Amino acid sequence: MFRDLSGTMSDPFLLRSVATHIALAFEGKFSAVLAVDARGFILGTMVSQISSCRLVLARKLGKLPGAVHRATYEFEYGATALEVQRDALSAEQSVLVVDDVLATGGTLAAAGALVSRAGAKLSGFATALELTELGGRRTLAPYPVFSLLTT
Ligand code: PRP
Ligand code: MG
Repeated sequence: MFRDLSGTMSDPFLLRSVATHIALAFEGKFSAVLAVDARGFILGTMVSQISSCRLVLARKLGKLPGAVHRATYEFEYGATALEVQRDALSAEQSVLVVDDVLATGGTLAAAGALVSRAGAKLSGFATALELTELGGRRTLAPYPVFSLLTT
């Protein structure tokens, strides 16, 4: 089963609306957005714009120049990793991790591990859509998880 959010992301009103709900759910609780490569970049950018918060990119393995923090995770076809530049996050920041979909939770858990490795505070996780039958939310405890839609 492939859940495709392209329609939502391509509609400027819908995209802004989803991002506004996320920004309000964590209002006052974050100072930076960590957007997850690749589809999380779209929603994460919009959340950062709406909340006037710094945007930081969690990229897939080998894409970022310079020193990085790395967190590996299991995915459909084996293990992979997310990375963030070491100087992109600091201890003073409270970070909201944003992606499009929460499925098994492996991707978001790895993104959260990057925040911890950087010494920053993890405010929580936000997605447009959560596939609840996969139980991914459990892997993200004890941090707050907000998903606008669940199925
Ligand atoms: C998809 C989706 C989420 C992730 C959720 O990304 O965009 O990031 O899977 O799955 P999980 O909760 O089981 O980890 P994917 O890496 O497939 O592709 P993308 O680069 O297009 O975002
Ligand atoms: Mg993705």
